[in-house]
This record gives sequence, structure tokens and C-alpha cells, in this order.
Amino acid sequence: MGYNNILTECTDGILLITINRPDKLNALNKETIAEVGQAIAAAEKDSGVRSIIITGAGNKAFIAGADISEFAAYTTQEAKVLSAHGHGVFNSVEQCSKPVIAAVNGFALGGGCELAMACHMRVASENAKFGQPEVKLGLIPGYGGTQRLTQLIGKAKAMELLMSADIIDAQEAYRLQLVNYVVPQEQLLDKCREILNKIMAQAPIAVSEIINTVNAYYDKKQDGFQLEIDQFGRCFSTEDFKEGATAFLEKRKASFKSK
Ligand code: COA
Repeated sequence: MGYNNILTECTDGILLITINRPDKLNALNKETIAEVGQAIAAAEKDSGVRSIIITGAGNKAFIAGADISEFAAYTTQEAKVLSAHGHGVFNSVEQCSKPVIAAVNGFALGGGCELAMACHMRVASENAKFGQPEVKLGLIPGYGGTQRLTQLIGKAKAMELLMSADIIDAQEAYRLQLVNYVVPQEQLLDKCREILNKIMAQAPIAVSEIINTVNAYYDKKQDGFQLEIDQFGRCFSTEDFKEGATAFLEKRKASFKSK
């Protein structure tokens, strides 16, 4: 598929999605958000894609936020449409059945921090910076930031960051458990691939169900415990479970087929 604002490349089952507007520090305009949604939808259908990394072009920014120039003159109604669309796309990232890691290679501000938080895990380079500075513009986050930041780092710190517009560095993000690892920039993609390779060696259906059931913990409309009971049961009808259990008993490495 042809995109104007993102690059996609699949290597060894890992799809790398690069937000590619480096002269605007990869700021997310509407078209870019739509393309991220299209790339995730295509990845869901493509059996050659088994996991995903999202990063930003260049070495300065992951994403410096929503594109302020695009929405500066928006009305309330236009802003609600923009926000709802962003929510839909970011939810599709969060609910993707294949593991998604954000490789945060610089500024992750506003919508950039929000997209990173919609991913299942985050790895930051040492120069990464995180923040939700919308309040400086007289706004609140519009792509899930009030909810996901609170889920990830807790209410008190989320309140502080959201209301102060403070920007934190990678080490502080690690201390707050916003990111899983901090690595030198040149090792960022390798670290993501290392994590994904470990995950891709596991049973894919079980991995998908882990994503689904962990997400349910944060979904007020779902009973995550009941979902876990149901999906635990579902795993027993997969060939991968039979293979995994047999391989253990036969003291050999399992070979999973995603069935
Ligand atoms: N929306 C639109 N354009 C943006 C942008 C955004 N969120 N963030 C950066 N850009 C653009 C700048 O306007 C500039 O474009 P120009 O060269 O055409 O003038 C270009 O990206 C480079 O940014 P610049 O500000 O010159 O880089 P810097 O190194 O001096 O500062 C930041 C980097 C990230 C601190 C600064 O760009 C910034 O504060 N961006 C906005 C962050 C924000 O508020 N995000 C939340 C939005 S809701």
C-alpha cells in the first residue's frame, strides 16, 4: 500500500512502521493518523507480519505531538471528530492482536506520547523525552492521554505531568514505569527486535489472548477475570497448546503453527 507520511518495511516477521515527517518532528496530522490505522489494519490481515515496531524518522523525534498547524482554527465539533478518529486508530494499536512496541527515539510529546502509550510496550533511547504539554495550548490530551498515562504511571504523577506540562527524560520515564527499557539510540531497534523475537518464539494465539485479556483489565465495560477464564479455555482447543504441552513432556522445543 502507498503511504504519504509513513514508511513500512517487514523483516523476519517484524513490521517497522516509521512516522516519516522529520522536518515537522513527525507531528501527527490527520492523514498520518489515518495511515497508521491503515497499516495496523493491513498488518492484522497479513500472516507475514507477526509483530510491529512503531518509530519516528530521524534521531530527534519519535513524534512531537499532533500537528498544531492543522487544528489551530478548529471548532468544537471539528475537534471532537479529530479526537474520536484518533481514539479509534490508537485503540486499534492497543487492541492489535500482534505485539506492538514503540521505539521512542526522541521527543514523544502530546499525541506522540499518546501513541507510544497505546503500544503494548515502550523502549526509549537515552535522548527520549516524554510529556503531555497540551495544557500550554489551553487544551487537554485528545488521543487517550488522560486515561493511558493514569493507567501506566498512576493518578498522582499523571495529574502532575498533565497539569504542569512538564517534560521528563528517558530515565525518569523508566523510573515511572512509562518505558520498559532505556538504551543508547543506536541500539534502540535491536532491543525492540530482541524483545519481539522472544515473544514470536511463543504460541501466537496465546500471545494474542494475553494482549486481549491484559487490555480487558483497563476496560470498564469488560470483566477481565471472566475473559481470562474464557480465553484460557479457548487455548486448550488450539493445536499450539497440544504442541506446547507435548514438546514439554517430550523434552524438546515447541514448533508453533498459530492454529
Ligand atoms: N505540530 C506542528 N508542527 C510541529 C510540531 C507540532 N506538534 N512540533 C514541531 N513542529 C515543527 C515546528 O513548527 C518546526 O517547523 P518549521 O521548521 O516549519 O518552523 C519543526 O517542526 C521543527 O520544530 P522546532 O520547534 O523548530 O524544533 P525545536 O528543536 O526548536 O523544538 C520541540 C522541539 C519539540 C520542543 C518543539 O517543536 C515543540 O514544542 N513542539 C510542540 C510540542 C507540543 O506542544 N506538542 C503537543 C501538541 S498537542
